[in-house]
Amino acid sequence: MKDKTSIVILAAGKGSRMKSPKAKVLHSICGKPMLYHIIKASKEISNDISVVVAHQKEAVIEQMRLYFDNINFVVQDAENFPGTGGAMKNVAPKNEKVLVLNGDMPLITSRALQGFLDNDSDIIMSIFDLQNPDGYGRVVIENGQVLRIVEQKDASLDELNVTSVNAGIYAFSKSVLDKYIPLLRNDNAQEEYYLTDVISMARADKLAISPLLVDEEHFKGINSKLDLAVAEEIMQNRIKALWMNAGVIMQLPSTIYIEEGVTFESECIIENGCRITGNTHIHASHIKASSVIENSIVKNSDVGPLAHLRPESYLEDTHVGNFVEIKKSTLKGVKAGHLSYIGDAEVDEGTNIGAGTITCNYDGIKKYKTIIGKNVFIGSDSQLVAPLTIEDDVMIAAGTTVTSGRVEKGSLAISRTKIKLIKDFYYRFFCKELK
Ligand code: UD1
Ligand code: MG
Repeated sequence: MKDKTSIVILAAGKGSRMKSPKAKVLHSICGKPMLYHIIKASKEISNDISVVVAHQKEAVIEQMRLYFDNINFVVQDAENFPGTGGAMKNVAPKNEKVLVLNGDMPLITSRALQGFLDNDSDIIMSIFDLQNPDGYGRVVIENGQVLRIVEQKDASLDELNVTSVNAGIYAFSKSVLDKYIPLLRNDNAQEEYYLTDVISMARADKLAISPLLVDEEHFKGINSKLDLAVAEEIMQNRIKALWMNAGVIMQLPSTIYIEEGVTFESECIIENGCRITGNTHIHASHIKASSVIENSIVKNSDVGPLAHLRPESYLEDTHVGNFVEIKKSTLKGVKAGHLSYIGDAEVDEGTNIGAGTITCNYDGIKKYKTIIGKNVFIGSDSQLVAPLTIEDDVMIAAGTTVTSGRVEKGSLAISRTKIKLIKDFYYRFFCKELK
């Protein structure tokens, strides 16, 4: 089946309505560029995928190569042939059936594309009905037949009131593309070559055009940052529904943000307000309210409320409490209950990290590691100046700044200035006048 259909994804446009220096198709939805989601869905139904690029083509190609191989990148001559029709000029699909997708439709799924595969017409176009059709091409239908697509900027007042819009995905037979793409003209408001004009040309030649009614939830086009936010919310709901169906408990899921690459295993509880990103994996753990977890692994642990695991943290059988920040560190069987920064560290079983403990991992030029052994008791408000190794069974007294590089097994480390107690100082300082 994958060898029957070619897919062309149009990703060369500037996306000026995004008002952004970044190419539109690279804007992120749930942690991955918009275009990533479309290619991912396309890969499930085709082995021949072409992506048309022009604006910021190096960045688009580089980012997509991080995720996919076997993509044909085709460069559009956007200066001489701007527009979605211009974008089709240099593509050479291998198969007779060609699905053309706009690159700004990240909510598409392979399932939603099935309707285009089940139908053998020469031209299938996707339509949905919108109360507010703003921004979309209007589909002019007469006696149940599609006549043409009029872009908003070219539409008459009557046409602007049409609520049937072009969703922006088409299936063409290769012969239709070969015939009509070279005939496209740019005599329109935007002076662009519109792919949508193929419809009226084919219609004039009495070719049948099959309209396919689709839903906005999968076919929404992203043209502005408002569209981007709406689409991200829809995708968030899909991601969270998937994981709740797989057994994850979420409190107030509408307040939780979970990116595409995140995975869960065994029963996990995610409280309200959490943000979990990157390739984080959570196994049988409880993530308490308003915690942020970035690209980390958490197993049989509890984290938060209000904790922050930065990338490459690994927690196993560990308790991390409120206002604890962990970065690129491994904690196994550890308790870090309150107000700490643990960076570039390895901490072993049975170790307790007191409130306010800080690993001083950075000297302004380089980062250094802190290795902490088993059953170490670190008193509150300690500074561990890296590079540092604390061996097993060590006690660090509260308020100690450990600068020794190594603390031997079984020792106590204590650094303190002697406390001075000055009798009646308070009264002498504040209450002179009263005497
Ligand atoms: C397009 C359709 C419109 C439809 C809407 C659905 C045309 C002329 N109009 O409008 O009928 O309702 O999609 O979302 O096709 N692109 C290129 N090269 C270019 C210009 C655009 O590759 O020179 C790519 C863009 O990167 C984008 C896609 O084509 O991914 C669509 O372009 P966009 O400018 O968003 O078209 P719309 O105005 O949304
Ligand atoms: Mg668009």
